[in-house]
Amino acid sequence: LLELLMSRRSIRHFANEQIDRKTLGKIVASARYAPTMNRRIRAIIVDDPEILGEFDRYERSFYGMWYRLFFKNRAIRAFERIFNDDIDVIKRKMEHSLGGVDFLYGAPALIILVGDTRTILTAESAQYHLASMVLYAHSLGLGACLMDSAKIALRTSRALRRRLGIRKGMRVYGAIVVGHPEERVLNLIEGMSLDYCWNSCAEENP
Ligand SMILES: Cc1cc2nc3c(=O)[nH]c(=O)nc-3n(C[C@H](O)[C@H](O)[C@H](O)COP(=O)(O)O)c2cc1C
Repeated sequence: LLELLMSRRSIRHFANEQIDRKTLGKIVASARYAPTMNRRIRAIIVDDPEILGEFDRYERSFYGMWYRLFFKNRAIRAFERIFNDDIDVIKRKMEHSLGGVDFLYGAPALIILVGDTRTILTAESAQYHLASMVLYAHSLGLGACLMDSAKIALRTSRALRRRLGIRKGMRVYGAIVVGHPEERVLNLIEGMSLDYCWNSCAEENP
């Protein structure tokens, strides 16, 4: 399992090749073993290139607007660093996509998790479902990437929600793209170090 965890990376270049529906169904089914507080979380699997194209078009105009607002406005630029140390990373990611790369990285499938807003801990549960799917896809030799950008697109675009039949009272909790990877992970990175302490962290934060 550790080897699987170590070799997984977010994949952002996909081959122009479909994934068969049976495999996509199996990836979604892998989430049934995830820890969850909401057993009614549903997945919408989008493999229609037309709809995937609509995501790209919407995200291009949506994130283009935010890019211009944040990064072309001198007054706002002065405050950016107060809000987020990672602002340069976000800026580079936006420029990468706005420069012409498909917002879904050319993936043949997008899996979106939706749930009803009344069940507690749905947002937290959905993250475990997504993690299971990403890892299972990787175990099949496929590539995946979490896509908060697609989640935000769905939360802000009524047209996209309507297109996918997402009714009022249903909330989008996350999304991943899946496809045949066109990039290879050559190095097993050490990963992010998760600091820990024994019994109390009080001394670290006097
Ligand atoms: C909640 C969440 C949302 C993410 N959303 C995006 C996204 O919208 N676009 C993207 O390219 N990567 C997204 N990622 C992937 C992270 O950028 C990636 O996991 C991180 O850079 C670490 O790289 P790795 O997955 O290759 O280890 C997201 C990751 C998480 C946990």
